Amino acid sequence: MGLFYINIIFFLLLCTTFLAESADPLGDFCNKDTEISKGSPISSNIAALLAKLVSNIASNGYVTTSYGKDPNQVYGLAQCRGDVDTKDCSACIQDAANQIRQRCPNEADARIWYDYCFLRYNTKNFIGEIDTSYGIFYYNINNVSDPESFKKALGNLVDKVRAQAVETKNEGLGKGETKLSEFVTLYALAQCTRDLSKIDCAQCVAIAVGSFETICRDRQGCRVLYSSCYVRYELYPFFFPIGSNNASASQNQIVVVYP
Ligand SMILES: *[C@@H]1O[C@H](CO)[C@@H](O)[C@H](O)[C@H]1NC(C)=O
Ligand SMILES: *[C@@H]1O[C@H](CO)[C@@H](O)[C@H](O)[C@H]1NC(C)=O
Repeated sequence: MGLFYINIIFFLLLCTTFLAESADPLGDFCNKDTEISKGSPISSNIAALLAKLVSNIASNGYVTTSYGKDPNQVYGLAQCRGDVDTKDCSACIQDAANQIRQRCPNEADARIWYDYCFLRYNTKNFIGEIDTSYGIFYYNINNVSDPESFKKALGNLVDKVRAQAVETKNEGLGKGETKLSEFVTLYALAQCTRDLSKIDCAQCVAIAVGSFETICRDRQGCRVLYSSCYVRYELYPFFFPIGSNNASASQNQIVVVYP
């Protein structure tokens, strides 16, 4: 990824609500180079494609499909994080399908990210292709107190998580935790889209992890959202199952977007 930060947007999000996943997306991308008009055949194919994605997501939390005929054919992908249950997954994709059309009404290439799911479509067939061209980064404004040992522990944990994510049987998901001290535990998760090859999944996660040292350096938490993978670490549990506890609300987050 070239570090040409054309546009940087900062929002201070002091999230106090409990994981309100059905609420706001973490981000979206409406590709302005792919303008279409409202009544166009592509636009109605997108509507039909979204209906297909929504109705097929429940079976295994992942759908790729297409709708229509060349040159108006559209390709779509919908996927939930592997640790999210069927009910939350379906609700997330339903929201994504509604929101993406509101946010990107005039684009053939559109993508939307939530904590629990991701959805995108395009007239170009992107299925199976790694894409880290557009990224959304969230980090915790607080810094760790011992950067050197933290970096080492994080490096070891993300290596494990990445190794899991590329295992075919894990369907793109890797997650784990490591105790930093008696009272502090570090949690990490990586999720690749399931259309990726092992090598592309490993590469996407590696690129995301690269931002831990740049954009998220010494931060207590970081989330990297690409079109091909989602990678996150926090000092609190945020994935399922979490023993008897619930996933915690996001805390003290700042978001940075690098198109
Ligand atoms: C964390 O470190 C960064 C970079 O050194 C600094 O700008 C920021 O103010 C620190 N954050 C807090 C909450 O101390
Ligand atoms: C988990 O969340 C549910 C719903 O918000 C709540 O009813 C339950 O008490 C929580 N459990 C724990 C262990 O915090």
